[in-house]
Amino acid sequence: METLIFATGNAHKVREIKKYLGESYNIKSLQDIGCIEDIPETSPTIEGNALQKARYVVQHYQVDCFSEDTGLEIEALNGEPGVFSARYAGPERSAAANMTKVLKKLEGRSNRKARFKTVIALIQGGKEYTFEGIVEGHIAFSPKGSEGFGYDPIFIPEQENRTFAEMGLTEKNKISHRARAVDKLVQHLNLNT
Ligand code: IMP
Repeated sequence: METLIFATGNAHKVREIKKYLGESYNIKSLQDIGCIEDIPETSPTIEGNALQKARYVVQHYQVDCFSEDTGLEIEALNGEPGVFSARYAGPERSAAANMTKVLKKLEGRSNRKARFKTVIALIQGGKEYTFEGIVEGHIAFSPKGSEGFGYDPIFIPEQENRTFAEMGLTEKNKISHRARAVDKLVQHLNLNT
């Protein structure tokens, strides 16, 4: 069975992906290959960061690998927080502080359009592929709901009036940016086994 590294430090994400690919690929985490260093993420774009992480792992560990990067892009803020989503309000990566900053910046603005974007970068047999998942929506006026994480309490997906944090995980996963990118990756990989 072909081995593929999922370049993430998040054990939950590795478990998730094994559900879809575990039958056809031997999916390993960074920890499994002894990669414990901080992988540089210095690109100004989500796609660039995903590729940077995957290239790093391929160069240093000579394995096939995929990585993922996600950000929230708000139209009226010229795409912010984008690649800075995790640490928008500072290095402590506080979801509450990040949401407060977004709401403050949008005060008095009528355009509240936003989208979540996930890019998965795969390097397999020396070839690079990217898979994008997007969910369009808008930013609520105040946080609502207690499910999920990050910006979920202030993000209302298209054709909904609830925030992601007011939906259950199963419901969110049917339409989320990450689920859409993962679907494309899984389709590609299952065609190539
Ligand atoms: P990561 O690339 O998955 O680590 O995501 C970077 C940051 O984007 C996270 O720290 C969150 O602030 C935000 N984010 C990513 N995915 C989601 C989501 O599904 N809901 C809410 N916020 C998210």
